Amino acid sequence: MSAFTVAIDGPAAAGKGTIARAVAERFGFAFLDTGLLYRAVGVQALDDGRGVIDPHWAAELARRLDPDDLKRPDLRTARAGQAASRVAAVPGVRAALLDFQKRFARQEGGAVLDGRDIGTVICPEAEAKLFVTASDEVRAERRRAELGAASLEQVLADLRARDARDAARGVAPMLAAADALLLDTTDLSIDAAVGEAVAYVASRHEAGGA
Ligand code: CDP
Repeated sequence: MSAFTVAIDGPAAAGKGTIARAVAERFGFAFLDTGLLYRAVGVQALDDGRGVIDPHWAAELARRLDPDDLKRPDLRTARAGQAASRVAAVPGVRAALLDFQKRFARQEGGAVLDGRDIGTVICPEAEAKLFVTASDEVRAERRRAELGAASLEQVLADLRARDARDAARGVAPMLAAADALLLDTTDLSIDAAVGEAVAYVASRHEAGGA
């Protein structure tokens, strides 16, 4: 079997990860949560700078990133999310993470990657592209439930701040690829959203004759 890439992009907590995992499992593809790369660099940069991120140091950390760094238990926190979106705006950080993601995307046997720039920058040639969205309120409620006790207002403010930063940055901004399928999960159950994504990927897979 040859390469087949599924690129899944969209704003924070829209359901990308859940959909990406399910698609990977359904088709037997490898899966990479690219947000984890930025989260790992972000928290390390924040720790090393005692709360202040130095962009040059962040780029150095990205070059030195090790698979073990992705096992830190605090990578899913809101603090890590904010740190991630700050280092993600640093061109040197993105450049350092580019090759690994490109290679992962084009590996034999198929790959699913979720992030912000997969269909536009990492793998514009991806055979299947999804841009997953949901209303701000629904995304905040889902993330609040995931994180536990945090207040809804706080989570909503956090997501909006990250989305604004991710969409406005000069390098690889969050953007739907022109040829991406838009999937709004606001009123969809997990099963329904996964079902739509799987049907779309299956149609692209058949179209490619893979
Ligand atoms: O899970 P959630 O959607 O909240 O975030 P994530 O996918 O873990 O990404 C965390 C942050 O990393 C985002 O807010 C982006 O700033 C950054 N990111 C990026 O710039 N490019 C990617 N391909 C993935 C994440």
